[in-house]
Parts: sequence; structure tokens; C-alpha cells
Amino acid sequence: MSDKCDLGLIGLAVMGQNFVLNVESSGFKVAVYNRTSNKIDEFMERRAVGKNIRGCYTLEELVDSLIRPRKVMLLVKAGDPVDAVIDSLIPLLDREDIIIDGGNSHFRDTDRRAEKLEKLGIRYLGSGISGGEYGALHGPSLMPGGDRQAYQEIEEIFREAAAETLEGPCVGYLGPGSAGHYVKMVHNGIEYGVMALTAEIYDIMRKILELEPEVMAGHFARWNESRDSYLLEITAEILRRDDEKSEEKLIDVILDTAAQKGTGKWSVQDALELGIAVPCITAAVNSRLLSAVRDERLKISRELGGLKKDRPGQQEKDRLGQQEKDRLLDSLEDALDFGILIAYAEGLKLLEAASEEYGYDLDLAEVARIWQDGCIIRANLLQEIRQVYQEEEPVNLFFSSRFRVETAGKIAAVRDVVRTAKDVGLAIPALTSALDYYDSLRAEESPANLIQAQRDYFGAHTYQRKDKEGVFHTEWQDIHNI
Ligand code: 6PG
Repeated sequence: MSDKCDLGLIGLAVMGQNFVLNVESSGFKVAVYNRTSNKIDEFMERRAVGKNIRGCYTLEELVDSLIRPRKVMLLVKAGDPVDAVIDSLIPLLDREDIIIDGGNSHFRDTDRRAEKLEKLGIRYLGSGISGGEYGALHGPSLMPGGDRQAYQEIEEIFREAAAETLEGPCVGYLGPGSAGHYVKMVHNGIEYGVMALTAEIYDIMRKILELEPEVMAGHFARWNESRDSYLLEITAEILRRDDEKSEEKLIDVILDTAAQKGTGKWSVQDALELGIAVPCITAAVNSRLLSAVRDERLKISRELGGLKKDRPGQQEKDRLGQQEKDRLLDSLEDALDFGILIAYAEGLKLLEAASEEYGYDLDLAEVARIWQDGCIIRANLLQEIRQVYQEEEPVNLFFSSRFRVETAGKIAAVRDVVRTAKDVGLAIPALTSALDYYDSLRAEESPANLIQAQRDYFGAHTYQRKDKEGVFHTEWQDIHNI
């Protein structure tokens, strides 16, 4: 047996280390390289001890230690570092060798890199990897796209490393070019949506219902019994956690500003490019932006005092009787389900449009299958979503035969939650936007007749009529006589 390695991995940060250990534990031999050599030493002396892992201190050494065609996977920071590593690898690789980018790269970068490498005969794959540190080690959801033949050659490694469900490993070839990274980007858009929705429900529990974190945790955990949603599960755990540095719950001492690395924003940017509305996901991105301007919020809130836990004299909230509070609590579960379904619906609509525009030829049932386990948005719901796309091409996920009646049955609860939050002045933009998405799509008449008229009025942009074909213009004013 050759002592050469099956896979070379570049980048020994958290994801890289864990993914290497995962691949090695599936029976493969892995060569690793990191730009700073102390990371290699540290990894080889600790976590890699006694394993089929070879630490390499130069890229030449890494490349030389691989079985041909060589398979080199990059788990480095998205952006310029990926280009820098690829440029250093090019002179060392031969035609037919394979580079796999496993980071959260922008899909347009992936297309650009694939094109450049294709000219050199080097095969390229862009693969989304989801599941964080735990997933990387125990089984992530893998979303590869790019050169199909190259995928077939790494398939065994990916299938062994991926999370496993009854329907098989959570990996599958998604499509050419940047298909894999696009799907991962939208996964993250949905992730932003679900996170914002759970945060809003938490905010209602905290500021309107005045529940303690432990009690909130109980509700999230109970709701999650039948849903098996990773994000609901961790929400319950987070709310239960005591702070080790104070007498408080940890959640109460964590600062209320959230950062973002960009994939949520990219989803929204490309949705706008493609002309696809993703209001719930957009609201989630905006919420993070508004959370980040803390100084501005503090200044404004000092004078205008938004709803706050334990702030005396908040009459709007005090008007809510116990009965109304009980009803609100009951409505939260349906509202959360509804919002989450809409976040998925928006994401899948975006994938549908991108598939068409960029020629990915995505199989949405397969995407849902790959998301069933290992990834951050995993939940039982994905099994049902998969079935929907196996059986029909719904005009919208919420309007599929599987979800249509169920969704309509939740609307009264959603309206109750949104109404109450608006009444007391609590911002719940993701849920509100999800409801507006639903109401916009069920409206037979949108108010865009007025928009058409306004455009024609000030810019002679013309308008269409209901009763006649063609384009029309009205002389709304006599500009020469004003
Ligand atoms: C995953 C996650 C992961 C992402 C983080 C941070 O699927 O494992 O999506 O890829 O990097 O969640 O993302 P933000 O910094 O944008 O929140």
C-alpha cells in the first residue's frame, strides 16, 4: 500500500483541524499544511498524535505527499487568502489535479477561480460546509459544486465524512461552477432568518411576557421535541446556561450586538440582483446591522425609551391582562413555525431563480436532503420540504399541497403576535416581514397600479392597463403652462 495521502488539507484553523480528524477517522490518510508552522506543530503534537496524518511544512511537501490525481482542500479564510493559496499551488500541481475550496467563498469568486484553473487543466470544486466545529468533526452537511468528474473522485471521502441520515450521507453533487457555494450562501441566508425569528420570539417572552430565561428555555425545548431543529435546541440550552463570572444567566450578560461575516448579506444582494424578494431574510440582515449601532441606539432610547425588561411605567405593556398574555404565549409557537417556513420559502425561491439564471440545474429535493442533518438549519421540517419538491413544483413552498392548509391555520396566531408587538412598540422585523410576504403574495390586487401611475406622472415611464394590451401614457400635467 502506498504511503501517499488521499487528501491534502490547507488551513488548520478550527474547521480545518476538525475536518481532517473526521476524514482520518473514516479511514483516509491526510496531509496537512498551515501558513504558520506553529499551528502544524501544535496540531501534530496534540490532536493528530497516533493518527494517519502527515504534517507538511511547505506546500511542495504537501503536494508531493499526495496520491495522483492530487486532491487538495482549502479551509482558509474566504477572500484574498483563497486566491493567494491557489496561486501558490498552481506551479506545483499537474493537469487533472483537484482543488476544493471548502470555505464560505462568494460564489462569483468561485466562478472566477474555476474559470482560471480550467484553462490550466486543474479541476476545481467549491464546496459549502456547514455544521460548525462539531459538524466538521462528527459529520457536516457538505454542498459541493463544480467539476462533476472531480466530484466523483472525491465522493468517497465526502460521503464518509458527512453526517448520515436514513436517506444517505448529507452530501451530493449540486451542479456546475459555483452551485455548491451558492447553495451554502442561501443556507446561511435561511440561517440568519431562523436566528432572527427565534431572537424575536425570545424578545417577546422577555419584554412582554416577562418570563425568566429558564422558563423560556422550557418552552423552546418543548417546542423542539417534535421539530428536532438544531437552532431551537441550542436556543433552549443557551437560555439555561448560568454565567460563571456573575450570579446572572449568561444570556443576560452577553452584549446585544451581533457581527456577520457576509453570507447573509450576499444572499440578499444576489436576491436583489435576480429580482427575487426575500423580505424575512433581508430583515434578519438589517436587524444585525441595527444591533451593531449600539451607541446610536442607546442615545435614542435614552429619550424615546423603547420597551425594556423591568422598566417601570410601560403602560402599553401593562394594559395586557393575564389572559391576553397566556394567549400570546400560545400563539408564539405557531408564529415561529410560520416565520421559519417563510424563511425557507424565500431561500428556496432564490435557489430556484439562481438555478435558472446561472445554469446550476439544482434539484431542490436533493438540497433539502443534504440539509437534513449536519448543518446549522437542520430540522425535521427538511424531510417534509424534501417531499414537497419530490412530488411537485410548488408556486411557493408555503402554498404547496403539504403546507398550504397548515400555514393558513397558523395565520391568526401570527397576526396576534405581530399585532401585540406593534401595540407595545416592540420591533419584530423578521416575523413582520414574513407575514407581509405572505399577505403580499395572497393579494389579488397589489397597490402597484398607483406606483405605475406615479412613474408615468413624473417620468413618462408609461403604464399598462387591465382592459387593453400595450403601453400607455397620460399627459398628467401641462408642464409648459405651470
Ligand atoms: C455553518 C455556518 C458558518 C458561518 C457562521 C458565521 O453553516 O456552519 O453558517 O458557515 O460561518 O454561522 O456566519 P456569520 O458570521 O455570517 O453569522
